[in-house]
Amino acid sequence: MRKKVVAANWKMYKTPAQAREFFRDFLPLVSGHTRDEVVVCPPFVDLAAAVDATQGSGVAIGGQDLYWKAEGAFTGETSAAMLLAVGCTHVIIGHSERRQCFAETDDTVNLKLKCALEAGLIPIVCVGEVLEEREAGLTEEVLRRQCLRAFHALSGKKAGTLIVAYEPVWAIGTGKTATPELAAEAHALIRSEAAKSLGQDLADNLRILYGGSVKPENAATLMAEPEIDGALVGGASLDPKSFAAIVKY
Ligand code: 13P
Repeated sequence: MRKKVVAANWKMYKTPAQAREFFRDFLPLVSGHTRDEVVVCPPFVDLAAAVDATQGSGVAIGGQDLYWKAEGAFTGETSAAMLLAVGCTHVIIGHSERRQCFAETDDTVNLKLKCALEAGLIPIVCVGEVLEEREAGLTEEVLRRQCLRAFHALSGKKAGTLIVAYEPVWAIGTGKTATPELAAEAHALIRSEAAKSLGQDLADNLRILYGGSVKPENAATLMAEPEIDGALVGGASLDPKSFAAIVKY
């Protein structure tokens, strides 16, 4: 039985003070939860405040990205060691907004994934097709390519902690959610790609999250699908009550 993960991606929302306020309201709402692994990924400048505010709560904190070099003249970037030093345990890699707005490629996703695993961060690798690709019948091909390239030159042994998030880009922030059946189909495909690249054992235990307009109203239905091992939540994770409702779906 794979343990479910509910992760929040705050994107570019909230200052450190607002992050503290969020956790002040959110933590009492989820205290004593046992079912899920809960992760919150705030903007970099909020990480220290978020780690401090969640001490002892069982809520993990992650970065939204990292750079694969150890250090150097890379203006604006953040290394794995920096994320670890501030208390992060997880990191999102290859989010579609990074791919679309900041020129992230399948190859940089691979470099970042290898770097995160090497450093001991738990990577949440995002894959997903855009609307034009789905409409052109290219979803399978896109997901296969994204997985194949992301997992390139990695072994199942090294990738044991890997988490994948299937985020169909047409469902992100649009209010359109993939049906559980459609998500399950994509998840099964991702799992079969993981089996090919990383071995059947890893694939059987791989947590694949669904992301794209997850809300308190649809979380239970999505999560009831055996192929869906949790959620990566954007908009609805910004409000303590709605994110708590998703955690406790
Ligand atoms: P929304 O939940 O706002 O659709 O965002 C999903 C997402 O991109 C999470 O990474």
